[in-house]
Amino acid sequence: MTAEEELAQIAIEVSACTLCRLHSSRKKAVPGEGPADADILFIGEGPGFHENEQGRPFVGAAGRFLEELLSSIDLRREQVFICNVVKCRPPGNRDPMPDEIETCRPYLDRQIATINPAVIVTLGRFSMARYFGTAKISSIHGQAKTIDGRLVVAMFHPAAALHQPNLKQSIEEDFRKLPSLIGQVRKRSAAGQPPPPADVQQLSMF
Ligand code: URA
Repeated sequence: MTAEEELAQIAIEVSACTLCRLHSSRKKAVPGEGPADADILFIGEGPGFHENEQGRPFVGAAGRFLEELLSSIDLRREQVFICNVVKCRPPGNRDPMPDEIETCRPYLDRQIATINPAVIVTLGRFSMARYFGTAKISSIHGQAKTIDGRLVVAMFHPAAALHQPNLKQSIEEDFRKLPSLIGQVRKRSAAGQPPPPADVQQLSMF
């Protein structure tokens, strides 16, 4: 199976999934979207109202802000893969529950294994917890950690940042660090080297 076919297969399974309670209130499941060979993968929290209507990730206000952030570093959403820790909308936009995240985890695991991105950006605390445990987002945002041969960077969730000027400034600054990070990873990979081996490291060190 090609990577595109594997992603399409995952999307079919997600759309028919009944493994947790979220399936019973969803309108459309939201598997995620983007190129199978994306260098960067963004992981949000879960679909909101508009995503549930359209079956696409980040299409509401947070999505427009994410597109602005991408555009600030000359990227378009079509160039990156965007998905969530849970693929169906938690009713009333409540937080996803631990068992829902756990049940949905294999879909995200398979997406990551298939796309094999050089850089993963977690948006908000639920995707951050997957890689950074109980760390506080206020202390680790904008820092990268090498995990399974790729760099993972935690950032604030665009929906939270949209309405809080200090968080907005933080996420804008964190985004500005991404091009140099991606450049470094690409340069190392072209030279046959793995990503920088240090554990948690400031992007400004690159
Ligand atoms: N917020 C998320 O975390 N994901 C979406 O897809 C939309 C809003």
